[in-house]
Amino acid sequence: MKILYSQEKIAARVREIAAEVTRFYEGKPLTVIIIASGGVFFGADLIREIKLPLWVDSIGAASYIDDRSCGRVSVRSKLKLSCAGRHILLVDEILDTGLTLAELRHYVLGQGALSVRSAVIVAKDIARSQANGLADWTGFVAPNRFLVGYGLDFREEYRNLPYIAILD
Ligand code: IMP
Ligand code: MG
Repeated sequence: MKILYSQEKIAARVREIAAEVTRFYEGKPLTVIIIASGGVFFGADLIREIKLPLWVDSIGAASYIDDRSCGRVSVRSKLKLSCAGRHILLVDEILDTGLTLAELRHYVLGQGALSVRSAVIVAKDIARSQANGLADWTGFVAPNRFLVGYGLDFREEYRNLPYIAILD
């Protein structure tokens, strides 16, 4: 396994993104929706560095089976909060094709959200995701390889690694 982004490098980048998010939502009530399971690691670190009062909810979504995209997104749980009248920040661990975020953005807007933005710790295939829209905040742009750690899994394993690595 080759480590791409160390624990220290991730922590520093998370603080930078949190500072930008804090400036952006200053004076606006913020609701963070963390996309489970992969987004909970970045999400938990990010919200603790955002210096604003905020609401947190989570939603389950998956577009991958094993190591290939199956090309559609399943929403696996419901939100506890209503999105109506809220400024929503979606948090996921990775943007690959962008399908997951595009689908959830659509879902949240359909529930009456005032605005929807997104943050991911890594973006992989910028060219492929262009069609579905990029994230508003991206930690790192990674090579197009299969990554694990910091929420990224292979068959639900490796999520707890504190770094992001290429799985060979
Ligand atoms: P998208 O919908 O194609 O942007 O893919 C997002 C989802 O695909 C993520 O939430 C991950 O679960 C999964 N995924 C994409 N690339 C990788 C990877 O390199 N390692 C592990 N999971 C990945
Ligand atoms: Mg996954």
